[in-house]
Amino acid sequence: MKRKIVAVEADWHSNNRYGLLNPNTFLYSDDNGRYRTSVVPVQEFLWELRTQNIEKLKELAGKDDIYFFHLGDPAQGFKHNTEYVSNTEINQHAIVVSNAQPILSIPNVKVARFVIGTEAHEGIGGTSTRLLYEAMQREFPKIDIEAIYHGFADIDGQTLDYTHHGPTTGIRKWTEGNQLRHYCKDIMMDDLLNGRTPPRYIFRGHVHRKGWETVHLEIDKHPFYVTSDIMVVPSMCDMGAFARQITRSENRITNGMVVMEIVDGNMYDLHWFVVTRDLRMRELL
Ligand SMILES: [Fe+2]
Ligand SMILES: [Fe+2]
Repeated sequence: MKRKIVAVEADWHSNNRYGLLNPNTFLYSDDNGRYRTSVVPVQEFLWELRTQNIEKLKELAGKDDIYFFHLGDPAQGFKHNTEYVSNTEINQHAIVVSNAQPILSIPNVKVARFVIGTEAHEGIGGTSTRLLYEAMQREFPKIDIEAIYHGFADIDGQTLDYTHHGPTTGIRKWTEGNQLRHYCKDIMMDDLLNGRTPPRYIFRGHVHRKGWETVHLEIDKHPFYVTSDIMVVPSMCDMGAFARQITRSENRITNGMVVMEIVDGNMYDLHWFVVTRDLRMRELL
């Protein structure tokens, strides 16, 4: 039996005061010293979730190979004047690296792909992701690592089209998934009309939401249906001022990772290692 594990995360937004922060990160100070930054409660929660997810991933994988994908925005960047952990580029990079290390330290990680995300967060030319790539290549020379904008991977016959920007999951409960299905169907029809096989799985990040839709297109010959799944992977960042504004005060947020088991070339199981929180302060007055 040949089994491969695919783990997908997105949007760490390292250096955002409400983004993923490894509490063991040492930052540079201008008095020639290093210091450990303070961690706010939601960062404690996110790190606890991340640590649990890594344990679950290790347990699920056993001795089988892990393929890790990060779908972009590893850092917050300095364009949006949000609250930073630190206002220096080197400290932002230090947080990105220390957020990546626990995943790539799992001994059976064979491949890591880092997608370049939104320019406002990455810096021009995908700077944050490219710096992460260089640091990880030096630290983990045995892992096959790349930094790219848009990938198409074939893992034992299961194909993954993955990049950062994609559809929204919908702004009303009753429209949820509509955009995902349209986006997915468009890719599928374009491929079929041009004689290509559509990707079996489409992974997207950026919108800091969770979404999953399956599209079947009917065809005349065996196997009579072509199927693709589109998955929007949630962030590892809490809702900040900008997100509160553009989501018009959405009351819940989901964080976590998606893990797929591919066994003998077939998708065997899919796991959402996610937690959804209510952002409202509930009180009995
Ligand atoms: Fe993002
Ligand atoms: Fe983004």
